[in-house]
Amino acid sequence: MEERLHAGRVALVTGAGRGIGAATARLLARRGAAVALAARTEEEVASVSREISAAGGIALPLRVDVADEGSVASCFEEARAQLGEVTILVNNAGTPGVPLPVAATEPDEWRRVLEVNLTGAFLCAREALPGMASENWGRIVNVSSAAARHPMAGMAAYGTSKAALDQLTRVLALEGEPYNIAVTGVYPGVVDTRMQEESRNFGPDLIGKQLHRMFHGYRDYGMLRAPEEPAELISYLCTPAAARLSGHIIRLEQLEALKGET
Ligand SMILES: NC(=O)c1ccc[n+]([C@@H]2O[C@H](COP(=O)([O-])OP(=O)(O)OC[C@H]3O[C@@H](n4cnc5c(N)ncnc54)[C@H](OP(=O)(O)O)[C@@H]3O)[C@@H](O)[C@H]2O)c1
Repeated sequence: MEERLHAGRVALVTGAGRGIGAATARLLARRGAAVALAARTEEEVASVSREISAAGGIALPLRVDVADEGSVASCFEEARAQLGEVTILVNNAGTPGVPLPVAATEPDEWRRVLEVNLTGAFLCAREALPGMASENWGRIVNVSSAAARHPMAGMAAYGTSKAALDQLTRVLALEGEPYNIAVTGVYPGVVDTRMQEESRNFGPDLIGKQLHRMFHGYRDYGMLRAPEEPAELISYLCTPAAARLSGHIIRLEQLEALKGET
């Protein structure tokens, strides 16, 4: 029987239609949260929501484009109206974009990656914060990437968006502190999701032999993790125990050691 760590909480998970977001939504729901699942593809969030409801959990599928201010506002309005104040926000929606060198990157593609990965998290946090402050409790988890720390040729937009997301995490932690709002970031490892599949499908002629080999190597050398692994870390960061970690960016590999400390 799953421990009901998130009982009584309302969580909103972006990018919850598949991959890490879907695994996180399922786990938060199993542990007692009422979960709003948000992404652009209605059928995907509806399908994961049905699965959660069938298992006895509370789920609300919502359509959102996190890069669109109006869409984010309506999504939160609906979540509040149906489930109550959102006190757990998982900013997971993300896109790798097409990994090309800067000289070959279209400005629109650069903007799209930053708008989804960075501005999306800003817009969602901005919507969630007043409600969390009024409840005097909140958790925001921003799903980042080790690409924020390790420069890779061809990954300027993605790496820059995630590095900036990490700084947003640190600033939000300072701003949330007076209201018991803990804000953390996660480096989830290399995870077996559509994002990795799409990255493997870019041809070597488009993205270069080096990145192509790297994406295939993740799978061929058994490095891909199940989405349930980062979901465990995200769930942990949504508990009261995570207050001491606010402002930190946590790697998947740190989870067991952190659990041992509490
Ligand atoms: N997989 C990895 O190895 C890995 C490694 C490091 C970090 N990450 C990060 O983990 C997060 C989740 O990725 P994943 O691997 O689970 O990929 P995924 O399976 O492709 O899922 C991405 C999710 O984000 C949603 N999304 C994308 N653009 C959106 C938008 N504009 N508005 C709302 N939702 C949007 C997608 O749904 P729609 O397309 O329907 O909107 C989907 O539900 C991302 O932030 C990614 O950068 C992944």
